[in-house]
Amino acid sequence: MSKLMVLSLVLSAFSGFNIINLSAAEFQRFQHAAKGDGSLSLLVVGDWGRRGAYNQSHVALQMGIIGEKLDIDLIISTGDNFYDNGLKGVDDPAFYESFTKIYTAPSLQKQWYSVLGNHDYRGDVESQLSPILREMDSKWLCLRSFIVNTEIADFFFVDTTPFVDKYFKEKDHNYDWSGIIPRQNYLLNVLKDLDKSLKESTSKWKIVVGHHTIKSAGHHGNTQELNSQLLPIMLENNVDLYINGHDHCLEHISSSESPLQFLTSGGGSKAWRGDVDWWNPKEMKFYYDGQGFMSVQITQTQVDIVFYDVSGHILHKWSRNKQLYSIV
Ligand SMILES: *[C@@H]1O[C@H](CO)[C@@H](O)[C@H](O)[C@H]1NC(C)=O
Repeated sequence: MSKLMVLSLVLSAFSGFNIINLSAAEFQRFQHAAKGDGSLSLLVVGDWGRRGAYNQSHVALQMGIIGEKLDIDLIISTGDNFYDNGLKGVDDPAFYESFTKIYTAPSLQKQWYSVLGNHDYRGDVESQLSPILREMDSKWLCLRSFIVNTEIADFFFVDTTPFVDKYFKEKDHNYDWSGIIPRQNYLLNVLKDLDKSLKESTSKWKIVVGHHTIKSAGHHGNTQELNSQLLPIMLENNVDLYINGHDHCLEHISSSESPLQFLTSGGGSKAWRGDVDWWNPKEMKFYYDGQGFMSVQITQTQVDIVFYDVSGHILHKWSRNKQLYSIV
């Protein structure tokens, strides 16, 4: 029995539903062309929307400079797009003040692909998903879970907030769960669709993006729900990178059990939490408790990751090479 089937049985036992709709709509797909030479460059930023405060504007400025240098094709936002409580509606001025007005560099006028963070769920979630925002600023795109196919890499964006139990118990904040309930049904569909689309992917590089950490030494630490539910699917399907935000830091953890790399880019504004847990030094490749962002450059044979601080200085680099099979 596959892991997903076991999970399905466990979840159906929990939720009391005998019939779980396993044929719900699949993740929406977008095509994003790579460059003429087949390569792709992008930036990743997370946990940012504070009307420019907490160095958000400085990070944005450096993203513009590095974005131009690398001739980036797209930008990924790992969520917590608008603090503290998401957007109140499509007419919330925070959209302009924390996004359009901040990321003004020419190189950043590319397609942004954004997931939702837990803070986004505290507002009117559906406003962030609304086409009205795309009319106001065409570079904006945020959906719950979706796929971006490029010729050389497939990106699987996963809505991770509904996986986390504590938000469903929290009394201090209201979360907008419209579109999520019944929860177990929703989660099972996300896992099933992710598994299916990863299996169907013929791309050389498979990259999963979510807001929450899977492995992190930062303030929030590991997200147990994702460790137990999402990670096995990623390992089974040879995912190369898991990219997240949530912890307001820059971080790179590798794993002894697989080639999967865990990359946190959550330094878009407020940082410097000051609490870092011990982590096995063999796995902890890099940790920076401050603001910044990350770049990813991809070719058929190589992925290059670089982390930058608020001044654009390079903090950490990592590369993986996968040779093409030579035809004998
Ligand atoms: C802005 O960045 C600088 C340089 O890293 C840092 O010293 C400073 O504390 C940051 N400011 C805030 C408000 O985080």
